Formats: sequence, C-alpha cells, structure tokens
Amino acid sequence: MPRRYQLYAFPVTIFAHLLFIAVATLMLIWLLKFRQGLAFSSSIQEKLINLHTLLMMIGFVLVGGEAIIVHKAFEAKSRSAKVIHMLLHLIALASGILGVITIFKAQVVPHHHMLTLHSWFGMIAICSFGLQFMLGFFTYLFPRAEMTTRASLKPWHRFIGMVIFLLAVCTAEMGIVERFGLLNLGSSQDGLILNFSGLLLFLFASSVALAVILPPYY
Ligand code: HEM
Repeated sequence: MPRRYQLYAFPVTIFAHLLFIAVATLMLIWLLKFRQGLAFSSSIQEKLINLHTLLMMIGFVLVGGEAIIVHKAFEAKSRSAKVIHMLLHLIALASGILGVITIFKAQVVPHHHMLTLHSWFGMIAICSFGLQFMLGFFTYLFPRAEMTTRASLKPWHRFIGMVIFLLAVCTAEMGIVERFGLLNLGSSQDGLILNFSGLLLFLFASSVALAVILPPYY
C-alpha cells in the first residue's frame, strides 16, 4: 500500500498560534524593555511610533492572520465560525485605523506624509482591508447574498483576502527595516530582537498561507 504524506491544516494552525505568541512576546519586550514604551498622545515622538508598531504588528497583522486560520480550523460552515472570523477582522481593522492615526500624529517627517513605499503599501493595505471587510460582511453575514452569489464570490473573497494579508505582512516587514535604520541599531541586542521578530513574522505568514491551502481535518 502506498504511504500517504498528506498534511492537514490543523497542526499547521497550532504552529501558527505558537508563532503568534512568539512574535507578540518579542515585540512587547522590544517596545517596553528596550525602547521608550507606548503612548497615544505624548511629546516623546518615539512613544507614538512604538504604539504604531504594536498596533500594526499584533493588532493588524497577527490578529488578521488568526482570523484567517480560525475560519479554516472550524471549516466555516457554522455561523459561529463566521462570527469569530468577522470579529477578529474587526479587531484587526480597528487596530489598523488607530495605528495609522497614531503614526500621522507622530509627524515622523514634519508636515510631510506618505513619502515612503512602506506608507503607500500600508495605506493600500488598510483601505482594501476595509473594503473587503464591508463586502464580506454584507455578502456572508447581514443581509447576506443569495446562496449562488455567495458560492461564486467565495474564491474571490479567499484570494483577495490572502493578497491583502500578504500586503500587510510586506508592509510590516518594511516598517521593521525602517525602524532598524532610523534607530541605527547596528549589531545591538535591540536590533537582533527586532529583526528576529520580522523573521518569525514571515514564518507566521507562511504557516497561515499553508493552512489555507491544506485540507482542514486532522
Ligand atoms: C501592516 C502594517 C502597517 C501599516 C498598514 C502601516 C502604515 C503606515 C503609514 C500609512 C505610514 C505613513 C504615515 C505618514 O505618512 O505620516 C507609516 C509610517 C511609518 N511606519 Fe508603518 N505601518 C505598518 C507597520 C509598521 C511596522 C510593523 C513598523 C515598525 C516596526 C512601522 C513603522 C513605521 C515608521 C517608522 C513610519 C514613519 C516613516 C514612514 O512614513 O515610512 N510600520 N506606516
């Protein structure tokens, strides 16, 4: 009998959850122990940039990835799986919007905005995320489209959702490179932790993508 090497989504989602915890922990240690902490309103610019980093890394990207794999883990036929998927995306969207407001308040380059590729990618990611969220909400939750429409839109919802998620991951990776450069971190322990969180974030994104293409059962 031929051996089966079929891998299922469930163990991959567990790996992704562990990576979520690792990236979130590294980020919190970096921001709270090595940098100057967080604030939404402060005369210390770095605190605002730190809050932007936290909201984007954990709130927007990691929670957004969790929303994708939670849906997969339950193989969302049930309404509760759809509601959890939607609620996690709502948290991600709220964090993303708050994160953008925070960085605009920080005035990194005084009176100039949207100069970098990071900011362009970021703005496209947030806007398309918001649009995808609204379309998904109206089509699948309330008022809900007809069954045939829902079925034909599903592959597009999945594909565009993954593209937006990967766009957000690229933006976050670019943000990490920018902060490394702006802070001139060189070979410090500080820089190592920041870069390592970027490496683990890439692994997280790869696990989310793998979980999406694998069959769900374990
Ligand atoms: C997907 C997540 C992210 C999004 C959507 C995003 C979005 C943005 C936007 C729209 C700006 C422009 C603000 C302005 O023009 O005044 C910006 C700036 C900035 N972001 Fe992010 N960001 C994300 C993640 C990160 C991360 C993870 C970091 C750091 C580790 C970071 C660091 C910065 C820095 C240093 C700036 C100021 C320099 C610049 O305008 O490029 N960002 N971000």
